[in-house]
Amino acid sequence: MQLSRIADDMNGGGVLSMEISVSPVHGRFVAEVAGVDLSKPLDDDYFHHIHDAFLEHSILVFRGQALTNEQHIAFSRRFGELEIHTAKHWLLPDFPEILVLSNRGENGTRPIVNGGAYWHSDMTYMAKPPLGSVLYALEVPPEGGDTLYTDMYAAYETLDEKTKGRIENLEVIHRYGDRYQMMASDDNDRPPLTPEQLAEVPDVVHPMVRTHPETGRKALFVNEGFTVAIVELAKDEGEALLEKLFSHSVQPAHVYRHRWQAGDLVMWDNRCTMHRATEYDLRYDRAMHRTTIQGDRPA
Ligand SMILES: [Fe+2]
Repeated sequence: MQLSRIADDMNGGGVLSMEISVSPVHGRFVAEVAGVDLSKPLDDDYFHHIHDAFLEHSILVFRGQALTNEQHIAFSRRFGELEIHTAKHWLLPDFPEILVLSNRGENGTRPIVNGGAYWHSDMTYMAKPPLGSVLYALEVPPEGGDTLYTDMYAAYETLDEKTKGRIENLEVIHRYGDRYQMMASDDNDRPPLTPEQLAEVPDVVHPMVRTHPETGRKALFVNEGFTVAIVELAKDEGEALLEKLFSHSVQPAHVYRHRWQAGDLVMWDNRCTMHRATEYDLRYDRAMHRTTIQGDRPA
């Protein structure tokens, strides 16, 4: 299905027509948006069209963008206020809204190599996890370094009725420190989190099944990265159920693989997706900038 419209740009006194097309590339889950230059301010018509597509598809891919840091931030801000990540050693100097995911570092930021190589949704260890993330590719290796995304609406909808009933009212604990320290144990570029940083990210409890605040659809809201236990179940029983749900969530039918090109901007709805990094040849440079949009308390 191809959805398109003509929007009129009244800037500058003239009427400038531009066609935005939204083309699904992985069923309903992912769509590629063409015909929009994100370096330009978006008028409300364009923004609403993109926002509708974002809610419909969960993952939007924009190819061939050329953005300054300011433009990346300005586009992201249309969706909400931006997060400043706890791990300050990855924040771009002068642009703390930008998290640098680069295997060489940038302006003194710490290098990251396969930093997100486990299934997760960003920062779910916060009381109000992000609404979404906006990742912009500056440099990519010739192959590898893909990002995998999985559809957590589909993960929920394809559970059997018995499991749906069992998990309906369960709550889970999300934690950052364990995952960070696990990754730091074999990465010399990750300084341990300070006690002050750890104090900023205490454990939080979220519902296991989340109703999306804008679409009203239910999504499974657990992830291998940060979900450590089920509140209502004994440790072993909880771990077994989480394992079952994690593997159910990432079965191939639910997963989209994004093969990056420089100039790609991908934004995802963090409330109903998970993602993970994949490996690549470390002789090549890989550099990405991420902004993260603030969200609300899962319900
Ligand atoms: Fe991530």
